[in-house]
Amino acid sequence: MSAMRKEDKNLVLIGFMGSGKTSVGLRLSYRLRRPVEDTDKLIERREGCAVSEIFARKGEEYFRQQETALLKTLAERKQRCIYSVGGGTPVRRENRQLLKSLGTVVYLRVRPETVYERLKEDSARPLLQCEDPFARIQELLRDRREAYESCADMIIDGDGMDTDAVAAEIIDRM
Ligand code: S3P
Repeated sequence: MSAMRKEDKNLVLIGFMGSGKTSVGLRLSYRLRRPVEDTDKLIERREGCAVSEIFARKGEEYFRQQETALLKTLAERKQRCIYSVGGGTPVRRENRQLLKSLGTVVYLRVRPETVYERLKEDSARPLLQCEDPFARIQELLRDRREAYESCADMIIDGDGMDTDAVAAEIIDRM
């Protein structure tokens, strides 16, 4: 079997909450004429409720199991796609392998200050509904840094860049 060419692979966007995965995915979809899928949305559709409700009713561990199960089903799809995945997906070692086998993994890296500015009014991220969201962002980013970096084929430092610029840089570097 011949090796898969780069342009035949899926593109997989990883990164912290608020790093711009969903909007960059949409932009890439438009520019590359490829379908885009957001794994949080696929899980919400399957479960019939929002991620925050899944966390509240069934717990984080259940949500994490759904993420892994979904990645396994995506690996079997034939279509070339752009996938944006939840910020915590790469934390599980098993998921990192699944993400890598899915395609070219692009890590949208942002500083905690950027995340905080973008998400300070947000109520949809259960992990940030706490007394000191900035401290939580710093802590999670520190804990996850290695997971993100070790599974990335490409790292984009997205602070101060808009969606178009991030998408253009990914296309340039592909
Ligand atoms: C999470 C990120 C969220 C969502 C869930 C948990 C995380 O996705 O999967 O709230 O652990 O970082 P986004 O990165 O799309 O916000």
